[in-house]
Amino acid sequence: SAVRRIIIAGNWKMYKTQAEALEFLQAFLPQLSETPESRKVVLCAPFTTLSSLSKTLHGSRVRVGAQNIHWAKEGAFTGEISGAMLTEIGVRYVVVGHSERRQYFGETDETVNQRLLAAQSFGLLPILCVGESKQQRDAGETEAVISRQLERGLVGADQTNLVIAYEPIWAIGTGDTCAAEEANRVIGLIRSQLKDTDVPIQYGGSVKPENIDEIMAQPEIDGALVGGASLEAESFARIVNYQ
Ligand code: G3P
Repeated sequence: SAVRRIIIAGNWKMYKTQAEALEFLQAFLPQLSETPESRKVVLCAPFTTLSSLSKTLHGSRVRVGAQNIHWAKEGAFTGEISGAMLTEIGVRYVVVGHSERRQYFGETDETVNQRLLAAQSFGLLPILCVGESKQQRDAGETEAVISRQLERGLVGADQTNLVIAYEPIWAIGTGDTCAAEEANRVIGLIRSQLKDTDVPIQYGGSVKPENIDEIMAQPEIDGALVGGASLEAESFARIVNYQ
């Protein structure tokens, strides 16, 4: 992964008020002084924190990401947020297709695709999440599930302008990390299905300070999408500063 970009992103999910987000930054930013410049650092935070995060992070190396985006520029879509609203406040990345949204909020490959296209059309970098459930893995369907999610999620997309996160559902929030070699294998399969083989592909699922070195040592893995361990400044800094 020597020539590909390395992107370490925190996904805060539905955690942190604005006050808590700013408190995090106070403790987190000073710990980035030794972080190699080549590593991109992103915080995907709740909508209500994005504006103040982006102001506080102005001029820093940390980029701000959202966790969802609607496909319309504006409209009668109660509860949704558009790309125009996100870019106005300095947001640069957006997570699309996270398994929690697929599972709890009716997200399908088709809506994921629409959100991804919207992100690209507003100049945001989508982080497209793909991954199989435990049941699918046990049934030997990992490859089929992932190629379907990729194929449908990327219809009409600019394949040079995105990030992919491989998040096996059974490894999310469970402490049960996918073995690094196994994540490397699946990420290699994902890469073989892409038009642009330089697209950064992250691993996500119980990433923590204890396993990040091994994960990042894998040749196919270009970063991490970190949930629980990104909530604490100390642990996220240790992840960003992996060896
Ligand atoms: O998007 C990141 C994520 O789903 C992984 O969560 O808590 O297992 O790191 P966690």
